[in-house]
Amino acid sequence: MFERVVIVSGPTIEPIDPVRFISNRSSGKSGFQLAEEAKKRNIPEIIFITGPTCFIPPDVTVIPVETALEMREQLHRYGETADVIIMTAAVGDYRVETYSEEKIKKDSDTLTLRLVKNPDLLFEWGQRKGDRQVLVGYAAETHDIFENAREKFKRKNVDLLVLNEISSQNPAFSTEENQVWFVTAGGIRELETMQKSILAAHIWDEIYKLKEIKNKIK
Ligand code: CTP
Repeated sequence: MFERVVIVSGPTIEPIDPVRFISNRSSGKSGFQLAEEAKKRNIPEIIFITGPTCFIPPDVTVIPVETALEMREQLHRYGETADVIIMTAAVGDYRVETYSEEKIKKDSDTLTLRLVKNPDLLFEWGQRKGDRQVLVGYAAETHDIFENAREKFKRKNVDLLVLNEISSQNPAFSTEENQVWFVTAGGIRELETMQKSILAAHIWDEIYKLKEIKNKIK
């Protein structure tokens, strides 16, 4: 059913000067498990666009990137002909307005950085996705989680939103287990707490279902 899938994983890093950067929390484990599960399902071409992380799956096409803008460039390069795009990356929402070529000296007691907004890669793809493409996004919410997730599902025009509630009980980052909800056009479904490897299989099952629906409609 699928020829080419693109998984976008890991954090991005936004450099401040040659030795410093701003980044996001993300181990890259979820993306890694999704790629491993795609291999089990014999998907012929797996493109793995990833920010810096230790979790790099073997035997897939790995495209390493650092910044959100680099990630975007590679997504645009490989996304067009993909049957499925999964945006599990923790993309930095902001980058510094002016990168300092020289290391910033700690002369003063305070330092102000001016940040400018990065593009929202998932939102952008939602606007241009093909009729037969399945687009999967993630949401990390701390409050009003269902309301926010429904809004994000619509605004980003995804087919599946994997919703994480970020709390002390469910930190979601760097953990082996996770508890999520699936948000689709059909509603919101709660999943049990499970290993990320098992969750990856559930996500792929859902993607196959969504693709079947798309094939019937078109
Ligand atoms: N995402 C993206 N580009 C960004 C920010 C986020 O593609 N610049 C994607 C992530 O990969 C994820 C989804 O958007 O699939 C949701 O990210 P999340 O942090 O929950 O939401 P935001 O859109 O950043 O909204 P907010 O932080 O306001 O909740």
